[in-house]
Amino acid sequence: MNDRRDEDRLLEHEYDGIREYDNPLPRWWLIILWVSVAWGVLYCINIIPGLGSGAGRIGNYERDMAAAREKFGDPQAAAQANTVDDATVLAAASDPLTLKAGQQVFVTYCASCHREDAGGNIGPNLTDDYWIHGAKPSLIHGTIANGVLDKGMPAWSAVLKPEQVLEAAAYVTTLHDTHPKDPKEPQGVKVEESEESNEKHE
Ligand code: HEC
Repeated sequence: MNDRRDEDRLLEHEYDGIREYDNPLPRWWLIILWVSVAWGVLYCINIIPGLGSGAGRIGNYERDMAAAREKFGDPQAAAQANTVDDATVLAAASDPLTLKAGQQVFVTYCASCHREDAGGNIGPNLTDDYWIHGAKPSLIHGTIANGVLDKGMPAWSAVLKPEQVLEAAAYVTTLHDTHPKDPKEPQGVKVEESEESNEKHE
């Protein structure tokens, strides 16, 4: 420490015996400060098209979002595509090729939780009369597409193509009363066969 230099920078005043140094901020620190301030001003101005780079921040955002929609599809349209009526699922279930594809999807993606014979394990038994989220084909499709995230059922529309979700739903509708061995205990509400097509259950 060079005592003389420190003394040189001592300010004149003294309060209760406390004296202050007047050390200037280092130049590098001030440069960073003023460059950041200038950058902040430019960043704020850049919402106005033409004043900053390109179309401005908002313009650039809109452009990037449009490009992403083009590339990955419109999420709103995808959400609408998630909703399928009973007739669509039943029609899919009447086509053997679709069911075969659905079985493939089921074995690959669903069997780990529902078992290959759908008797239930982590996920519920899908062959019995009891349903937590409804037995109607459209509701089954909705549960598969949107999942029950807080209960551990993934939203498959985020993973599978819409056709695959439909195939899986169609396949699940054919599993009723297949009586697998050692099924999981019933979960949810009992749904009579006749109710399946016209009643909604929680
Ligand atoms: C990581 C485990 C897991 C996987 C994988 C999984 N599920 Fe589930 N599934 C669950 C759980 C847990 C529930 C019960 C949700 C609840 O308690 O509300 C469930 C519920 C369901 C239901 C509703 C049952 C009812 O009683 O309403 C259907 C239908 C279903 N799953 C179909 C599928 C299909 C089809 C697949 C494959 C595409 C699949 N699941 C993959 C865990 C899983």
